[in-house]
Amino acid sequence: MSVQARPKRLSVPAIRARKGGDKLVCLTAYTAPLARLLDEEVDLLLVGDSLAMAIYGFESTLPVTLEMMIAHGAAVVRATRHALIVVDLPFGSYQASPEQAFRSAARVLGETGCGAVKLEGGEEMAETVAFLTRRGVPVMGHVGLVPQSVNTLGGYRSRGHDSRERDRIIGDGVAIAEAGAFSLVIEGVSERLGRELTAAVPIPTIGIGASAACDGQILVTDDLLGIFAEFTPKFVRRYRNLGEEIRAAAREYAADVRQGCFPGPEHTYSTPSRSAKPGELPAVHSKP
Ligand code: KIV
Repeated sequence: MSVQARPKRLSVPAIRARKGGDKLVCLTAYTAPLARLLDEEVDLLLVGDSLAMAIYGFESTLPVTLEMMIAHGAAVVRATRHALIVVDLPFGSYQASPEQAFRSAARVLGETGCGAVKLEGGEEMAETVAFLTRRGVPVMGHVGLVPQSVNTLGGYRSRGHDSRERDRIIGDGVAIAEAGAFSLVIEGVSERLGRELTAAVPIPTIGIGASAACDGQILVTDDLLGIFAEFTPKFVRRYRNLGEEIRAAAREYAADVRQGCFPGPEHTYSTPSRSAKPGELPAVHSKP
């Protein structure tokens, strides 16, 4: 009997090696069914703390807990076998010290089976990134517009339009790369900054509103599918309008129920016939 080797999941070194090569295709995933649909189409799935807004209805990412990230991360890992799975460390689970970050990252890696964690921040987080990577935790960085700092930034506007801010964000990205991160998300920055930072670091940059110059792109899947339609950032291209589709399906279902058209005979269990032999099960669905 031949034993077929399972196709191997993309590894952190494989993603790291894509600097300047084929563009990296990344999306977010929070649940098993969607992760299963996306897995073969992408290189990397991020279980992002954007799930706060996309599925929990919060106004920012700040209320997300480590337990929430672990539950969603484990579901996404279980449902996939191709993409590298990266899980966000949520606000408050890593900023206090490198030791706190290690404890949180170790739980995320151990309890989800994911391949890496992502954390937000620049120079101030470089020591933490070095601490984690030296202890076996692969880290994806995230600079530019960093949503966990919405209260200090004063909103979600794009960054890096003046030279001081541009220099600071480039310094942030370089510090995170030098600390050992294997890739870097750049969010919400000018085209020039996206291009300059991509040229300045030896690791792949993954842009979200950071221009086509990045080594790869990521979008929040709910934005791309038109499921999360409260607002659409400038950098989102909406490939489908599933929100409208879902609303239309619910409307049709409601009309069918109200008019007595659903369930039909094909969705209704039939009474077992008298002629069924002992032990024979009735049909689960009656045939049309
Ligand atoms: O939480 C998230 O989905 C993210 C992406 C926007 C990069 O961090």
